[in-house]
Amino acid sequence: MMLATRYLGLDLRNPLVASASPLNAELDNIRRLEDAGIGAVVLPSVFEEQLVEDEERLERLISTGIDSVAEAASYLPAARDYGVGTDRYLDLIARARRAVGVPVIASLNGVTDHGWIGYARDMESAGAQAIELNVFWIPTDLSLSGRDVEERVVDILASVKAAVSIPVAIKLSPYFSAIGHMARRLDAAGADGLVLFNRFYQPDIDLAAMRLSPDLKLSHATEIRLPLLWIGVLHGQVRASLAATSGVQGADEVIKYVLAGADAVMTTAALLRHGIAHATTMVTGLGRWLEARGFASVADARGRLSRRHVANPEAFERGNYIRILQSHGH
Ligand SMILES: Cc1cc2nc3c(=O)[nH]c(=O)nc-3n(C[C@H](O)[C@H](O)[C@H](O)COP(=O)(O)O)c2cc1C
Repeated sequence: MMLATRYLGLDLRNPLVASASPLNAELDNIRRLEDAGIGAVVLPSVFEEQLVEDEERLERLISTGIDSVAEAASYLPAARDYGVGTDRYLDLIARARRAVGVPVIASLNGVTDHGWIGYARDMESAGAQAIELNVFWIPTDLSLSGRDVEERVVDILASVKAAVSIPVAIKLSPYFSAIGHMARRLDAAGADGLVLFNRFYQPDIDLAAMRLSPDLKLSHATEIRLPLLWIGVLHGQVRASLAATSGVQGADEVIKYVLAGADAVMTTAALLRHGIAHATTMVTGLGRWLEARGFASVADARGRLSRRHVANPEAFERGNYIRILQSHGH
């Protein structure tokens, strides 16, 4: 069975990609993911806030000068221990590249288009084969229009694209009023891949303590529906590769995303829940299903149930919705 796929112009032995999470911050886990059969690994994000903070520390160090070495030295441990640490991140990229043969994708997470974009170049120099850009931004400023938000995201992508020569994917929010048009704009701005969708962190309220509870719940299979819909709609309509993220728990969800038209299918929650070896189950399950259905390859099955290829494209649209709602009453 030919499971090989192309994603962002990179050759992957199969479409399953370990998406950005702290699991992939450990070299040992990255090695184990490769052994388990994963097609590529996305490292956890470096955040704009970390980069700006590092830069400020550096400036403080430089401006302190050699006369106050002791004071300068006191900053150093803090800089070194901060989060993933921006230098440590570059080191992780380099070590991951040496350790595994599967593509290593670095992830950059920011919401402005200045100050930190240069770090994308450092990621490229450290050996990243591609960059995934995550614009995790809740526009709580009510003066910003949808157009403003879109401009910002396109500008960030364009700045990163201009800074590097490796492919750049963008992990998109589902909260644009016209996702298809936004996808086309990003495509035109040079996005090599669209990752659908960013799973936004949303706070809950803890009633007993009466405060916001900032916990993170792992996804469930029902969450594939929104990305599945848009991958199905976008398949064949944009030049950029399409990657699905959210809700993959096993081979079934991987297969569904491929049938909708995904070039790559990402997973995090399933690996956190069931362990890294679960990647093998998912890849094997994909191969078995394709074989049982008489497909010769992943490429053969890709997009078979996309909006362009289904007999009834209105299944993606409003007509179907009305029928389903009405049938619930009977
Ligand atoms: C603990 C945890 C950490 C994550 N960290 C990142 C991150 O640093 N950058 C990012 O783009 N996505 C991050 N994600 C999102 C995942 O990459 C993925 O898109 C999301 O979990 C949906 O996929 P899933 O349903 O397979 O978990 C994180 C998810 C989890 C659960």
